[in-house]
Amino acid sequence: MLWIPGPTQVRPELLQEMARPAIGHRTQAMTDLILRLDPHLPFAFGLEENSSAHPAVHSTSATGLMEASLIGVGPRILCLVNGAFSQRWAEIAQQLGKDVTVLEAPWGEVAPMDSVAQTLRHKGPFHALTYVMSETSTGTLTPPEDIAEVMRDFPDTLVLTDVVSAIAGRAIDFDANGIDFAFAGVQKAFALPPGIAVGCASDRYLQQAKDQPNRGFYLDPVRFIEGHEEQKTPITPAIPHYYALAQQLEDISAGVTLPAADRHLQGAAAWQARFDKHARMQARTIEWARSHDLQLLPKLEHASPCVSCIRSGHVDVPKLIAGVAKHGFTLGNGYGKLKNETFRIGHMGDHTEAGLEDLLRAADEALQA
Ligand SMILES: Cc1ncc(COP(=O)(O)O)c(C=O)c1O
Repeated sequence: MLWIPGPTQVRPELLQEMARPAIGHRTQAMTDLILRLDPHLPFAFGLEENSSAHPAVHSTSATGLMEASLIGVGPRILCLVNGAFSQRWAEIAQQLGKDVTVLEAPWGEVAPMDSVAQTLRHKGPFHALTYVMSETSTGTLTPPEDIAEVMRDFPDTLVLTDVVSAIAGRAIDFDANGIDFAFAGVQKAFALPPGIAVGCASDRYLQQAKDQPNRGFYLDPVRFIEGHEEQKTPITPAIPHYYALAQQLEDISAGVTLPAADRHLQGAAAWQARFDKHARMQARTIEWARSHDLQLLPKLEHASPCVSCIRSGHVDVPKLIAGVAKHGFTLGNGYGKLKNETFRIGHMGDHTEAGLEDLLRAADEALQA
């Protein structure tokens, strides 16, 4: 049972969806399959009722859309960096030849919002700002509401947001949070095998992207978004993943993935109940950590609802990981330079609260041994 911060455990029913007979991607069957996604993607991105945003799917990992997001914007980019994935995004921007300013916070922290505002004011204007909502490497949440508040004073800067380990586990509220481009892979709280990515662009992002030169082909945001909207993907899509995503989106909206008491909920209420389940699993994990005298890496108000990154303290991390493995559970070690100094629990996706109790019992036993 995978409790790493992605890929997460996939329900057998969804794996079966991927074993369906092949279909041609220029057929009515593929059009119908793409159309199955569209009623649900607005819930995932938290679009407002009359939103003009453009949700879409592309056959790439999340990093592909991280790169695509930058292809659609002008050269001056401010990257908020506080972990491995936000660092990757800044590096991609540099590789693409952008004029990059990095505002760095220590891993596990969030840059103070007054520093963000000052950087925008004194080093700007910027065409775009990038930030990672849930830094999977450190379990750190940058609250989108805080960014939105700062960005109200900088309306000409586009807001690009990595929602990889947030979406389907937490509200994104794309419009309310002033986001212009958001993206994620599906191997985190969507609980699907890795291989495709979901993205969403504001209308102004899409219009401005059309004016950018040299957008290439595969990662051109205009091409994949418009292709999705016309049910004509620019490339041969990962069709088995589309089947699994369609089923999972329908199941989430129909309440199928919820605890028994919530299974009557539908639509937005079912998505909210999924987010609430994630919040409860996070709270339980933090309570467990405290009961062992262990601390989270980030401050509580910056803790990700999907990934808890716990300082190792008195724990020998490899021994803990080996101990829970005896019970069939896989836990995540710390990422990169945080290896053995932290460990990570990915309490997201279709994991249940009862399943979390089993994991924590196994961890108790491993710690006692
Ligand atoms: C926050 C975040 N961003 C980006 C990525 C990159 O995703 P992928 O490996 O699917 O390209 C990951 C992967 O774990 C991630 O956690």
